[in-house]
Amino acid sequence: MKNRSRVVVVTGAMGGIGLEICKTLGSKGFIVIGIYNNQYKEAEWINHSNLDELIQCDINDTSVCNDTVTQIINKYGRIDALVNVAGITLDTTFKNMSFSDWNQVLQTNLVALYNITHPIFINMLSNKFGRIVNISSVNGHKGQFGQVNYAAAKAGIYGFTKSLALEGAAKGITVNSISPGYIETSMTAVIPEVVLTKIKSQIPLGELGKPSDVSRTVAFLVDDDASYITGEDINVNGGLVMV
Ligand code: CAA
Repeated sequence: MKNRSRVVVVTGAMGGIGLEICKTLGSKGFIVIGIYNNQYKEAEWINHSNLDELIQCDINDTSVCNDTVTQIINKYGRIDALVNVAGITLDTTFKNMSFSDWNQVLQTNLVALYNITHPIFINMLSNKFGRIVNISSVNGHKGQFGQVNYAAAKAGIYGFTKSLALEGAAKGITVNSISPGYIETSMTAVIPEVVLTKIKSQIPLGELGKPSDVSRTVAFLVDDDASYITGEDINVNGGLVMV
């Protein structure tokens, strides 16, 4: 199947990593549908004419997600790939973490995976083909001071990925995750300088990653070259040691 007939949905499409994934997949000829919630940067999207459609959708709302997926399938006929990027941080020490800080991060980064993935997985089952890539984090592996909520959610993505991979395997659907390290985005821009300096000193490759480091890995996983890889996690973190 030629890329141009492949339909890819990317959540978190207006974020630093999500937008780069959309651009990379668009440049490789995929039909790219971006989902965003509240950070619409129209100019950035429109400036990339190889992107097809941008849809506002709150991934925390199950029925809105069902309607959005139906709308996409009605228009494009099928969904071949899904890249789950949407995520938030509310960093604070556990001592100071409110239930709301905990719950919001778990909801958006983990619970909402159900809402968008479930209707798309059903479509992939009937097509007997699918590629799902979930963006986790190095901090899901190693934990991070101030990120009990985020690290718990990102670690949950591994169980989700590996289990769904088993269910999709006989149906032509692969499910993998990517664990980016510290990538140059608005999420890392707010890390206190003193903390960031310490983090950088621990990265063997010596610098933060670029969104394109992640997007190129996504492009590999959704393409035919990766058809024998499923239930796997790929670290894109400059060699950070997991302790
Ligand atoms: N390890 C051990 N102790 C630490 C520490 C660390 N990494 N960071 C801070 N501390 C200690 C401080 O030394 C301080 O100790 P004392 O009370 O004894 O002086 C205490 O913890 C409180 O530290 P702060 O003054 O920094 O506390 P704060 O409440 O102002 O801020 C924080 C805490 C919000 C967690 C802040 O340290 C922070 O933002 N850290 C960065 C967290 C981080 O790395 N987030 C990643 C964002 S990027 C991302 O998430 C993308 C991805 O997937 C990788």
